[in-house]
Order: sequence, then C-alpha cells, then structure tokens
Amino acid sequence: MAALEFRSPSRAELREFFEPVVSAYGLDATDDDYRYEELTYEDGRSIGALDDGVWVGGAGAYSFDVTVPGGDQVGASGVTMVGVAPTHRRRGVLTTMMRWLHDDAVRRGEPLAVLTASEASIYRRFGYGVATDDARITVPSRAVVFDPPLQVDGRFRRLDPHQDTSTLADVYEQVRLRRTGWFNRGAGWWERLRLDPTDARAGASKLFAVVHEDASGAPDGFATWRISQNHVDNRVADDTVVLDELVALDADVELAIWQFLAGIDLTTTISWNGAPMDLPLRWRMVEPRQLHLRGRSDWMWARLLDVPAALAARRYLVAGDLVVHVDDAFHPAAAGTYRLKGSPDGAECERVDDARPDLSLGAPELGAIYLGGVAPSLYATAGRIVEHAPGALERADAMFVTHPAPYCPLMF
Ligand SMILES: CC(C)(COP(=O)(O)OP(=O)(O)OC[C@H]1O[C@@H](n2cnc3c(N)ncnc32)[C@H](O)[C@@H]1OP(=O)(O)O)[C@@H](O)C(=O)NCCC(=O)NCCS
Repeated sequence: MAALEFRSPSRAELREFFEPVVSAYGLDATDDDYRYEELTYEDGRSIGALDDGVWVGGAGAYSFDVTVPGGDQVGASGVTMVGVAPTHRRRGVLTTMMRWLHDDAVRRGEPLAVLTASEASIYRRFGYGVATDDARITVPSRAVVFDPPLQVDGRFRRLDPHQDTSTLADVYEQVRLRRTGWFNRGAGWWERLRLDPTDARAGASKLFAVVHEDASGAPDGFATWRISQNHVDNRVADDTVVLDELVALDADVELAIWQFLAGIDLTTTISWNGAPMDLPLRWRMVEPRQLHLRGRSDWMWARLLDVPAALAARRYLVAGDLVVHVDDAFHPAAAGTYRLKGSPDGAECERVDDARPDLSLGAPELGAIYLGGVAPSLYATAGRIVEHAPGALERADAMFVTHPAPYCPLMF
C-alpha cells in the first residue's frame, strides 16, 4: 500500500477536505453545514491525509485565548474537526495529525491545547485530561420560584440573532474575560448563529434570543434558545424551552433570565444540554430538587504544551510551593520536573530537573487539574497522581481547585 500524503488543504479544497471528517461523524452534510464550518475555519491550522490524491482524514485548530483562574488569558490550540475515514482507521492517521497540530501550536507560542471529544477514550494517549464537565438539566418552569424573591432593575429586549448578533458578542466578550474556561469568539462564531443551519436545530425551532439591559440601558446578559413543540399535537401547553446559551455579567441577571425563560407562554419545561455544573439557580430555588440533573459528562479536555508558561499564567487560591514531575510520552518536550510558586497574586514556574518532586503525574492529569475543576487528591485516589512528600496533595488541592467550577460554554 502506498504511503499516505499529509498536508494542509487550500481554501479551494475545503469541501473535499471536510467531507471524510463530516462523514466520520455519520453526518449528511448540507451546503449550510459546510458554510457553518467555513465561517470559523482558520487558514494554515489544518492538516489532512490523502490516499492517492483523495482526502481520507483531517483535523484542524482554532486560535483560542482561554481564560484561566485569576482572569488571565492563555493562548490555546482549539483542536477541532477530527475525523478519519473508516477505510483508513487505526493506521496512525490521527496520531500523525495530533503531532502536527501540537508542533504547530508550539510554533505559534500556544502553551495549551484544548478540545471537546466525541468519545472519552480517544485523547488521553495524546496527553489530554478532562478540564471541565457539563450537565444536562431540566427544570419545570413552574419551579423557577426564588427565595428570597429576585429584585433586578432593568428590562428584556427581544433580539433576532439571524439579523444582529453584535450585542450578544459584546456581552459575551465581557463575561468570557472573567470566567475560567471561556474563550474568545471572533466574528465567524457569531455568523454561525445567523446561519442557524437546520442540523443545529435537532428538530426544534429556529434560534430565539433575548437581551437583558440594566437600569441605564446597558446590556448585561442574554439567552438564546429554541422551542421544542408539543402543544400542537397535545392540545395542551407543554412545549420545552431548549436553552442554547445563557450569558450574564452577574448572578442576579442570570437568575432574572431564568425567570424570563420560565414565563414563556405555552412552555412548561426548560432544558439545557451543556449547562455549567455550578448554577446559582439551584441554590435560589424554593425547591432545588426540581432542578433535575439528567446527565453529567466530560466536556473540555486540556493538555499543556508549555508547562512553565501555562502554570505561571494562572493564579492559585492559596500561596504555596510545589515541585511536580510530569510524564509526557506524546510530547516529550513538556516532560520534566517543575517548581511552581503560586499565590492569589501571581505565579512563577521553572524547570528544575534535579529537584526531588513532591508529586508525580502524567500530562493528562496536569491538563485535568489545570483549570481547577477537579482536586488533585481525587486523581491520587484513582491512582493517577503519586504523592512523594506528605502534605503535598493537600497543598495542591488548596492551590489548584477553583470556584465556581470551570466551564466551557461551547462545543468546538
Ligand atoms: C477517532 C478517530 C479520529 C481515530 O482515528 P485513527 O486514525 O483511527 O486513530 P489512530 O490510528 O491514530 O489511533 C491511535 C491510537 O488511538 C486508539 N484509538 C483511536 N480511536 C479510538 C477510539 N475511538 N476509542 C479508543 N481508542 C481509539 C487506537 O486504537 C490507537 O491505539 P494504539 O496506538 O494503542 O494502537 C477515528 O476513529 C474517527 O474518525 N472516528 C469517528 C469520528 C470521531 O469520533 N472523531 C473524533 C472527534 S473528537
């Protein structure tokens, strides 16, 4: 069998390049679906495999700035659109592409790589760990009753996301700079909302949006949602608000938006597939048990490509020093022993290969604890972090874990 050729596609080849990737997900892509992908496509950040001149696999990346604990942004390669044709699976195509994507991210000076995964079994071997979880929740609209009652000045303004997304982009930009796990969204990401392809609707309505404005008229939150209709067939009002995004500058505005959604006529349920794990809603409801957790899943995976740069960019809940040894078979340049001095005000991290480590861990575990979504001690109980110096795990827990839990607001 002739060797496969690996190269980046040109703009003119994009549809042929995307085809095996889209098909690997079992999708029957329409022109709108291709356009949707093209809107956020970045030239020079994709790699694919050709067999005898035909694309048989591909993968790409976005240039993200991910907000880390403390509020700084870290350059990240947002790995995306990964697929290999069933005729060419398990021949190392993905492995070659991941190596290219990591090398490319290093050339661009990105200390981090992140992705959302179709299966949780794929990416650990490439050094990724689960950095954020998300929740599938439903809430009966009648249960959105608060104690104490909510008093928020302001008003709601309906907005057609197919016409104008600039207000949504402005609010998002303010919020994402304050929230761990969120990333920048350029114009193409908002164009995607305007396109709103049928596939993205999953049988529900087009996208609706509302903006909340404070007493001075400044936008401080928004929600986008679809309606899943039942009332026409059932002749009773029992439609569902399928929440797509809820973005708010503070918790009161967020709660006001929940109240707004709960009041939409003909609907009796709000569902959200992709909610943050930590929701103020639950702790303000009179009956918190009515917030039903239908599922919980790994969401954003992370791996560090430049350990000192990434660890020094975040802040730590309490001041402390740790020496950690990192194993990284897939990206050996990141393997080594590092001394971290972290605090709520800043951090320093340097390579100290001769020092005795307090903790040893693999690249996936470092990626998992990086945004503070899971306690290092939990990974130790699972046998994946080893403590060499007594007390080091307790110190690592106190330093790394963040509240609220990190959240990634989008699939990418
Ligand atoms: C997942 C996918 C991209 C893997 O591509 P591939 O070229 O077959 O992967 P490779 O041959 O490089 O596999 C490398 C290793 O990962 C393992 N692996 C690959 N896919 C895996 C999966 N889905 N589950 C578990 N292990 C997997 C392989 O067995 C191999 O292990 P080995 O090194 O011990 O032999 C491909 O199966 C695919 O397109 N799947 C459908 C679409 C999809 O899920 N894409 C990922 C989106 S996030």
